Amino acid sequence: MAVLLALLMVLATPARAADDSLFRALGGEAGVAAISAGLVERVYADERIKHLFQETNPRFLTEQLRKQFCELSGGPCKYDGETMKKSHAALGINKAHFNALVEDLQLAMDAQGVPFATQNRLLALLAPMYRDVVTR
Ligand code: HEM
Repeated sequence: MAVLLALLMVLATPARAADDSLFRALGGEAGVAAISAGLVERVYADERIKHLFQETNPRFLTEQLRKQFCELSGGPCKYDGETMKKSHAALGINKAHFNALVEDLQLAMDAQGVPFATQNRLLALLAPMYRDVVTR
């Protein structure tokens, strides 16, 4: 009986509990949605980069970013969009553009009261995407 119970407990436990601590620190579903919306609002108003977004639907972009940030931070979402390489290939993004977007993201997180250390945890996950996004 004890063996059966132990077996059932093993089978009922996920192989590895997902670490959703960053997702929770960002404010969960509502926090990540607000950060994504805040980022999109800022990039469309940012003189340094707004020209790059003229042909993109802001609602679509907000939703894609929400899913991506949610999954990346350990939340219960699945990003189903384009790869970073493909979606940014034709945009001619440079380092200054990239830094501008990161700044807008920091401001969006500030607006949600996300602490600096938590902000940096998300930025650290995005940093490796630099090589796929920046093409000149
Ligand atoms: C690590 C940084 C970045 C991340 C995580 C990111 C994420 C994304 C995501 C998830 C999408 C949607 C892809 C899809 O499903 O089609 C997207 C599209 C886009 N991104 Fe980024 N992005 C980053 C950097 C940038 C930068 C620096 C710019 C320009 C300043 C930019 C401009 C755009 C534009 C214009 C689109 C829409 C392309 C289209 O309409 O097909 N992104 N990005």
